[in-house]
Amino acid sequence: MWPSLIAVVHEYALLLLDPDGWILSWNRGAELIKGYEAAEIVGRHFSCFYPPEDIAAGVPERELEIAAATGHFETIGERVRKDGSRFLANVVIAANRAPDGTLHGFGKITRDITERTAAEAVVKASETRLRSLIATVLDTVVDGLITIDRTGIIQSFNKACVSLFGYTPDEVVGQNVHILMPEPYHSEHDHYVSAYLKTGVAKIIGIGREVMGRRKDGSTFPMELAVGESPQGGNHAFVGIVRNVTERREAEVQRDQLRQSQKMEAVGQLTGGLAHDFNNLLAIIIGNLDMLREIRAGDQMTDELVRDALESALRGADLTRRLLAFARRQPLQPERADINEVIGAIVRLLARTLGENITIEMSLTPNVWPVQIDRAQFEAVIANLATNARDAMPHGGALLIDTRNGRLDEAYTAAHTDVTPGDYVVVEVSDSGTGIASEVLLRIFEPFFTTKEQGKGTGLGLSMVFGFMKQSGGHISVYSEADKGTTFRLYLPRLPALFAAHEERSEQPASPGGSETILVVEDNASLRRIVVRQLSEAGYRVLEAPDADAAMHFVDASEPIHLLLTDVVMPGAMDGRDLARVAVARRPSLRTLLTSGFPDARWSGSGTHSRRLLSKPYRKEELRRAVRDALDDPR
Ligand SMILES: Nc1ncnc2c1ncn2[C@@H]1O[C@H](COP(=O)(O)OP(=O)(O)OP(=O)(O)O)[C@@H](O)[C@H]1O
Ligand SMILES: [Mg+2]
Repeated sequence: MWPSLIAVVHEYALLLLDPDGWILSWNRGAELIKGYEAAEIVGRHFSCFYPPEDIAAGVPERELEIAAATGHFETIGERVRKDGSRFLANVVIAANRAPDGTLHGFGKITRDITERTAAEAVVKASETRLRSLIATVLDTVVDGLITIDRTGIIQSFNKACVSLFGYTPDEVVGQNVHILMPEPYHSEHDHYVSAYLKTGVAKIIGIGREVMGRRKDGSTFPMELAVGESPQGGNHAFVGIVRNVTERREAEVQRDQLRQSQKMEAVGQLTGGLAHDFNNLLAIIIGNLDMLREIRAGDQMTDELVRDALESALRGADLTRRLLAFARRQPLQPERADINEVIGAIVRLLARTLGENITIEMSLTPNVWPVQIDRAQFEAVIANLATNARDAMPHGGALLIDTRNGRLDEAYTAAHTDVTPGDYVVVEVSDSGTGIASEVLLRIFEPFFTTKEQGKGTGLGLSMVFGFMKQSGGHISVYSEADKGTTFRLYLPRLPALFAAHEERSEQPASPGGSETILVVEDNASLRRIVVRQLSEAGYRVLEAPDADAAMHFVDASEPIHLLLTDVVMPGAMDGRDLARVAVARRPSLRTLLTSGFPDARWSGSGTHSRRLLSKPYRKEELRRAVRDALDDPR
């Protein structure tokens, strides 16, 4: 059976050789592969299949020798057909020995592998092509593509990633992928991957989400991350696709802002129209009630009824006034104003409204540009902001009012609808309160929007603020952080130079001096020394006193005194306020300037002649400026 099987095998040439290499048998496969009939080839030497150069080099003999010595020889090499054509052959030669070791000859198997090799070459070529195609695709796609292994080590990093993250592939391949993440992702990532491999619970894989990316320079950007998993023979590899969504986020924010400002515009027109009509109706009601009261004077019943009705009508009028303010339709009486001075004046009232457990701090930059505002309305704005701050600090805290010169540039105004670039005086009102939740933040300026319980808030405070700022050509922005506090920033347009009567003076380098006589009253000796020196250096003649009694000696003497600079809180029977009052009573032309570190102390009491105050601690320039302004006050 064996020989007949051999005879019919087609794919293999099977032949027997004698110990010297002479051909003993030939099969059908040998005939097909090599082209000889059995009759032509049996009896010839097997070296006739080798190319002449191999024969010359003794290759056939050497192969037989190896097979004889080791029992087996295998090679791949070129062989020659009967027609002289060559083919690539896989050749196995096996020694055929008797049990006693005598060499009987060899069995030889030859297979034509030309086609298989060619096919392999094709596969290899197409693999190379595919690989370069993939590389091109990876580098061409606009999205970042990163592959990492199961431990988070970066395996590849495409071109888009280079421009997204600022790293070159060399810098990141082999590194842990968490270098591309800011905190808290950075620390969480390793834990996340290992937890996923253990539990299979995915947070991002196959889902995608928005996270932050970190560039080489440390800056961060929002990115959309999709992660795919590719199990590679038990090893997981992950492919991350990254898209920078900064622009999309910005566009969304701008769209929201635009929508919000359009809504405010529409609501403004509606409430403006309504409030206007209601105002007229209320004016009629109030007028008639007043007349009724006169006609029925002395009738107690009528009097009570009319009083209640009037009270409600006046409350209604107050509401409509605030609605008109929101709608930017209240009559304004703008005048040139020094915002520091306006704020100084309103703080006096605030200290009382805010109560004892809220401290007021002021940081007023001297020489802020002049502005043109309706003073009373602006005071109402600050009062509204302060009241809101108080409500946000039920357990006490700090209210900080800050002024400075500022500029809104094109970049800012491009991102905010209806804001004009230019110079502004910036008033910042900050509190250390509860903060405002982000979903609430968008709506706080809407009329009647309030989070306060029924009867506590009307929701018109910030609407008034908003309307006033717009009507005054200004702008308002708000920044808030939960549990940290809230900052409202008011931008009031700088008064154009044409209208700024004293502009030149306030633009001078802030070191004005003088030769007048100043009486400095301060109980703290070292502070007094500093003040005296700073004023003397500026050219003033300075008298000094540690308390009100000592100061009165100078006041009662005949020496000229132009300015009384006094601390408010001092030991003794008279405090600074009292001293100022008494001194001005004796010397009507005397100017006064109060200083204090305690806002409450500064403003309690009434009837002080000094509208001016300088809050401690102050710097030299601030002192000199305040002194000069007080001396120049025409009153
Ligand atoms: N400083 C702040 N801290 C926290 N939340 C604030 C602050 N200012 C305003 N808010 C929020 O904005 C909402 C609207 O404020 P707005 O002043 O317009 O109305 P109100 O204070 O509720 O009522 P009204 O001022 O008419 O008495 C408030 O209810 C509050 O939720
Ligand atoms: Mg309010």
